[in-house]
Amino acid sequence: MKVLILAGGFGTRLYPLTWARPKSIVPLANTPFLERMLTWLRRHGLMDVILAVNHLPEMIRDCFGDGSSFGVNLEFLLEDIPLGSGGAIRNAQHLLGEETFLVLNGDILTDLNLEKMIQFHRTRKAQMTISLARVEDPSGYGVVDMEADGRLRRFVEKPAPEEAPSNYINAGAWLFEPETLDKMPVKGTPFSVEREFWPKCLEEGMPMFGYPEDCYWMDIGTVNRYLEAHRDLLAGRIQVSIKEPEISPRIWQGKGAQVHPGATLIAPVIIGAGATVGPDAEISDTVIGPGSIIEAGAVVCKSVLWEKVQVGQGARITNSVIGARQKIDPKRILDDTAVEELGARSPEE
Ligand code: GTP
Repeated sequence: MKVLILAGGFGTRLYPLTWARPKSIVPLANTPFLERMLTWLRRHGLMDVILAVNHLPEMIRDCFGDGSSFGVNLEFLLEDIPLGSGGAIRNAQHLLGEETFLVLNGDILTDLNLEKMIQFHRTRKAQMTISLARVEDPSGYGVVDMEADGRLRRFVEKPAPEEAPSNYINAGAWLFEPETLDKMPVKGTPFSVEREFWPKCLEEGMPMFGYPEDCYWMDIGTVNRYLEAHRDLLAGRIQVSIKEPEISPRIWQGKGAQVHPGATLIAPVIIGAGATVGPDAEISDTVIGPGSIIEAGAVVCKSVLWEKVQVGQGARITNSVIGARQKIDPKRILDDTAVEELGARSPEE
C-alpha cells in the first residue's frame, strides 16, 4: 500500500520555529519529526512513501534523500503552489496506483495500529476511513458525528463545546479507495479534503467511516503541543526510540556529552551528543540538543533546546523551545517562549 504524507504546510502556528525549518523536520527528541513517522510506518510494513512538499522542500530532501537509509522508498512531489490537503492528494494520483492508499498529516505523533485500521476499512467496505482521536475538549477541531458501527453522518468544524456531537476528532490518518480520486476537483485546484470534499461525499451518501482507537495521538502543530509531545515522550506515554543511551532511569546521555559532577539532572532528561552541562546547572524534564552548552548555574526546565544552543551563566529557561545555535544571555529569564534558530527571519521580513 502506498502512503502519501502531506508535508507542504507553512506551519504558521509553530512560528518562529518554522521560519527556517519545515514543521515536518523540526526535531522531536533530537530526531527529525518525519523520521519518527517513517519508523512508525515501517513497523506496520508500509515502505512506499510519497512526500507532498511545498514549503522549504530542499531541506526535507536533504534530510531523507531516497529514503533508503531509513528503510523506505521515498518519492517527492513538489507543488508549484500550496494545493491544500485535497489538492495535494489529487496531485499525487499518478503515483498512488490502483489500490487502497493511506494519507497522513505530516505532523502527527501516534502509535495508531495501522494494520487494524486497514482491516476495519476493508471489513466495512468503506470508500474512505478516517482515524479518530478522542479529546476532552473537541471545540477547536473538526468533530465527527457517527453511527454505532462508525459510519459517518457529518463533520462539525470547530463547534462550541455544548454543540459538539462527539469527542472524536479527525486524527490525520485517512484511507481512500482509488475511485474517490475521480470525484475530486481537477488536478491543480487547491481545496481542502476535510472542509470541502468529505462533506460533499457524505451528502452524496458515500460510505465513509471513522476508526476510533484508544492510542496515543498528538499533533505537534502548536508550540504548546510540541512541548506536550516531548513531555509525553520523556514520561514514556508514547514509545519512541531515543538514540542517546540511557545512563540511569530516564536519563539519556549522548556520546561525548559532559555533565559536571556539580550539576543536577532531574529525570526525565535527554542530553544530546557532545553537549556540556556546567557546575550548579539544573536540568529537568528537558531535551538538550547535540552540541549545546549549558553554563554554570543555569536552570532549564520543561523545555526543548535544538542543536548547539548556548545558555549563559545563571539563565533560567522554563516551558520554552530554543532554536538551533541561539545564545541565551547570562541571567536571562525565558518562560513560555519559542525562540527562532539563529539567523532565521520572519517571512514578512
Ligand atoms: P498552520 O499554518 O500552523 O495551520 O500549519 P500547516 O500549514 O502545516 O497546516 P495544517 O497544520 O492544517 O496541516 C496539516 C498537514 O498538512 C501538515 O503536515 C502540513 O504540512 C500539510 N499541509 C497543509 N497544507 C498543505 C498543502 O497545501 N500542501 C501539502 N502538500 N501539504 C499541506
